[in-house]
Amino acid sequence: SSESGEHDVVVIGGGPGGYVAAIKAAQLGLKTACVEKRGALGGTCLNVGCIPSKSLLNNSHIYHQIKHDIKQRGIEVDNVRLNLDQMMAAKDKSVKSLTGGIEILFKQNGVDYVKGTGTITGENEVKVKPIDGGEEISLKTKNIIIATGSEATPFPGLEIDEKKVITSTGAIALTEVPKKMIVIGGGIIGLEMGSVWSRLGAEVTVVEYLDAIGGPGMDADIAKTAQRILGRQGIKFKTAHKVLSGDASGKGVKLEIESVKNQKQDTLEADVVLVAIGRRPYTEGLGLENVGIETDERGRIIIDQEYRTKHENIRVIGDVTFGAMLAHKAEEEGIAAAEFIKKGYGHVNYGAIPSVMYTHPEAAWVGQTEQEVKASGKEYVVGTFPFLANSRAKTNLETDGMVKFIAEKETDRVLGIHIIGPNAGEMIAEGVLAIEYGASSEDIARTSHAHPTLSEAFKEAAMATYDKAIHA
Ligand code: FAD
Ligand code: NAI
Repeated sequence: SSESGEHDVVVIGGGPGGYVAAIKAAQLGLKTACVEKRGALGGTCLNVGCIPSKSLLNNSHIYHQIKHDIKQRGIEVDNVRLNLDQMMAAKDKSVKSLTGGIEILFKQNGVDYVKGTGTITGENEVKVKPIDGGEEISLKTKNIIIATGSEATPFPGLEIDEKKVITSTGAIALTEVPKKMIVIGGGIIGLEMGSVWSRLGAEVTVVEYLDAIGGPGMDADIAKTAQRILGRQGIKFKTAHKVLSGDASGKGVKLEIESVKNQKQDTLEADVVLVAIGRRPYTEGLGLENVGIETDERGRIIIDQEYRTKHENIRVIGDVTFGAMLAHKAEEEGIAAAEFIKKGYGHVNYGAIPSVMYTHPEAAWVGQTEQEVKASGKEYVVGTFPFLANSRAKTNLETDGMVKFIAEKETDRVLGIHIIGPNAGEMIAEGVLAIEYGASSEDIARTSHAHPTLSEAFKEAAMATYDKAIHA
């Protein structure tokens, strides 16, 4: 195999964790390579995750709004039609320009982009099998950062063909709108992709094992509100139901489901079934066994506080290890890991990482849920404010949802902020900053917020936490 000069850092995986780690390491003066086997940078997020899903969410929302919600605004449009090919082309264009952009950033920062599958063969060596079929490359390196991400968890007995039985990867690339779609799992992927196809005309049923939608981490009040709003938009929910088995041998797909509460069984049929029951760490072909690195019972690579495996120079970040499977979490870890290598210190505040569900309206949160605070035994107060009482939301005819604050009773320190409503995903940034700075709800309520903006609902929910809101 051929050799290239020794690197300070070899990053395996070019997703939000890996590419950010590589750029930061290079910026810190380390000789850095990033190995990626997909043929494009950006990982799951840019290629088949965050970016394509948000393109379809945005454009399907515009389509749906023009079709169903525009008349009351004094705009008459006739003959609205969907051009799915063009909607997919717009998505592909956004993805391509963003993944290409990272390649440019690599060039600007001097990161070596190695296209191939990386296998750790020793503490200081990564062998790469190039995707173009060329000769194996040996990269000698002082440090390795593993950022190989995750993949969809399959449903036992239902083979994924990405046409009839799909994961999110198939759900961002369907070539026609299914008449009926069943989503297994009412978490973030299920609700986002279910929304897309429901807006485009599919009859969507979500089967969720728990008795609330939203996946782990969503506050119960927000989950309840989300289910009501999405239900009104036409999505059907079968919560507290488990899928027993599936059969995709016929024209469509049949699912046997059972109520968790009374064991009553039922058969559901659809043209397409989306499996969205979570994601699992991806370490295939990585060669962990060559260096004795272990994973836990869920396949996550075991690390310490500084992202180190049992080998001090092999670090792990992003979806393939512990914590929320979110792009911005992986990015923060990418920067911290590079800083640990160069400077010996790095930091991520795991208590202040926001989550956003990009449905319409959006849901967004940071900090603890009310259920978590209650379980911790801490005394707390809650303040809420409905968008129905916010002037801008009323003006925009977008009054669904609310802002909810949870603060510690004794100190008024903000413990959690949960929003469902227009622009929640942007609004939560203020909440993240509040938690990062250890703000009290009164700090926020006494901060002037421009009128008329949706953010006034944020301020008034803070006010309602320790006092009375003005407009509710
Ligand atoms: P990944 O992005 O998975 O990147 C890992 C990369 O490593 C991959 O490109 C893979 O090809 C490569 N790789 C693996 N093994 C090897 C090897 N041996 N050699 C070379 N390369 C290898 N998160 C958000 O924050 N916001 C969102 O809106 C959002 N939307 C999402 C929508 C969908 C449909 C999905 C599926 C996910 C979404 N996520 C979102 C989650 C987000 O995509 C992940 O949290 C994020 O991509 C994790 O980054 P990562 O770098 O850890 O791994
Ligand atoms: P998830 O963990 O969010 O939700 C999975 C849901 O499926 C849970 O509610 C679970 O109870 C349910 N479930 C599991 N097994 C089931 C079964 N057999 N039958 C019925 N229901 C079952 O996982 P999801 O939605 O697949 O997303 C994976 C990851 O991707 C998440 O961790 C999320 O963080 C990330 N993601 C983030 C997005 C964002 O930030 N906007 C968008 C999409 C994904």
